[in-house]
Amino acid sequence: MCGIVGYVGSQSALEVVMAGLKRLEYRGYDSAGVAVLADGGLAAAKKAGKLVNLEKALVDGPLPTGTTGIGHTRWATHGGPTDENAHPHLDNAGRVAVVHNGIIENFAALRAELAERGHALASETDTEVVAHLLAEEFSACADLAESMRLVCRRLEGAFTLVAVHADEPDVVVGARRNSPLVVGVGEGESFLASDVAAFIAHTRSAIELGQDQVVELRRDGVTVTGFDGRPAEVRSYNVDWDAEAAEKGGYDYFMLKEIAEQPKAVADTLLGRIDAAGSLTLDEVRISAPELREIDKVVIVACGTAFHAGMIAKYAIEHWTRIPCEVELASEFRYRDPILDQQTLVVAISQSGETMDTLMALRHAREQGAKVLAICNTNGSTIPRESDAVLYTHAGPEVAVASTKAFLTQLVACYLVALYLGQVRGTKWGDEIQDVIRDLSRISGAVEQVLRTMEPVRSLARSLADKNTVLFLGRHVGYPVALEGALKLKELAYMHAEGFAAGELKHGPIALIEEDLPVVVVVPSPRGRSLLHDKIVSNIQEIRARGARTIVIAEEGDEAVVPYADHLVRIPVTPTLLQPLVATVPLQVFACELATARGNEVDQPRNLAKSVTVE
Ligand code: F6R
Repeated sequence: MCGIVGYVGSQSALEVVMAGLKRLEYRGYDSAGVAVLADGGLAAAKKAGKLVNLEKALVDGPLPTGTTGIGHTRWATHGGPTDENAHPHLDNAGRVAVVHNGIIENFAALRAELAERGHALASETDTEVVAHLLAEEFSACADLAESMRLVCRRLEGAFTLVAVHADEPDVVVGARRNSPLVVGVGEGESFLASDVAAFIAHTRSAIELGQDQVVELRRDGVTVTGFDGRPAEVRSYNVDWDAEAAEKGGYDYFMLKEIAEQPKAVADTLLGRIDAAGSLTLDEVRISAPELREIDKVVIVACGTAFHAGMIAKYAIEHWTRIPCEVELASEFRYRDPILDQQTLVVAISQSGETMDTLMALRHAREQGAKVLAICNTNGSTIPRESDAVLYTHAGPEVAVASTKAFLTQLVACYLVALYLGQVRGTKWGDEIQDVIRDLSRISGAVEQVLRTMEPVRSLARSLADKNTVLFLGRHVGYPVALEGALKLKELAYMHAEGFAAGELKHGPIALIEEDLPVVVVVPSPRGRSLLHDKIVSNIQEIRARGARTIVIAEEGDEAVVPYADHLVRIPVTPTLLQPLVATVPLQVFACELATARGNEVDQPRNLAKSVTVE
């Protein structure tokens, strides 16, 4: 949600910043802007719409060359996506430029105060007040980092700010409260960005910034302090993926590449976590075995796709560990005063590690004494930093806004947590757990197999491009898979898509069924839980009798569904609890292809942003 880049070094700042913004465009694409320090002054350009509009504007009106600069790609909160509201925002003298991610909650009061002192504000944003406040402070102390600290102490809300001042031409200053900001340390050059992807082509050496910290960036190093001016401790780390991982690699869209990467992402997430004897070794889970034995409730908090992973985890956790498990939308969690204590394990699932709703939910849980385990894909992000323990997924960078490979790896991590809890606590399912660990270690081959057979799904998707509605049905773990299929279709194809528990259909939603309405049905394995299978076969018959066009996702060898399937998508034989790992893939491909057929922007769907850092 808003991408920020800052650079100081010896290269053209404009080039470095624009290339960084390109990699961060997934965070927001309502408008974009840059500012560079050159010839003793400050020059800025900004444009509504995608980055390409700014690129064109820079061709028509080039900026002078300088080696210090900042840039921004916006997901609008205060004020529409116009040129005026685009960042950077400048003070009235045009000496300070600032870019911002987050929301400054007390901006109205600050704006009124500035107006009284004669400042003229040009935009509707909350950000612009910061440029004016920085200019005032700088005129008194002539130190941008100190000005930033003074201003930050007056701000309320969640924010990342990055600023430059024409009177300090070799300095970029950043500040962080809640929203993400990382430092990149190169040879004679330094970077600031919302995400390491912005500078990974230049350096893999990064520094995490903590809460309420200000960083002063120079060519030869960085200085980090708290908002109070005291030196702050920082953690350096090396990014374990390279620039190539964040490229499209020959695919038309990042989403296609990320779907194709799923077998590897799944295998990487399992790597080193299952030993030769078939036991789990989750040493990173720093919650001790005795503490895990004391747990009497698991609560999962997450948003969107990660929430669907959490719903599936509930089935696995309760079945394998017999510990009660609740799953809750992170945005609802703290507002209902949930019952938590030291024996509650809260699992926070987040690809980005920056989702504000999830962060606030985990903070609330820790305040109540619960232990928090994060499942996260982004090293050094806020959610794992603030958790008691973390299990990283190894999906690699996920750039497309719609989550795919992160979802599959979140599922793997959830299974690992469930199995580990079962292993540590020694449940009665010991033999089954051993079998599942074995099945899990082979699952990436099954995902690969699904990917090889997707052409009919693509042509089916194209044939449905003019439909208005698609429904998705599932039972048991197929129900969250149905919800995930519907979410993908909504966000990518902008179609009305709903997921239902198949058994619930007769309690109302069946009224939606009409002639030729496409209904996707996720069918559980006929083995083991055959009752569940038989029930859903009946549901398929019920909707088909009412005219629905049935698109059935069923295991190889499941002949019972054949007479009722207008379109049959086969998936490999997989134990029911693990089936979401293979059943979700056709739904991702379906949504991606349908969106493409409708002419939509697959990687950057309208109104969305990848990392949602506001509540
Ligand atoms: C959907 C999607 C979102 C995210 C949600 C949580 O495709 O990507 O629903 O899953 O915003 O994001 P993270 O996992 O970063 O907390």
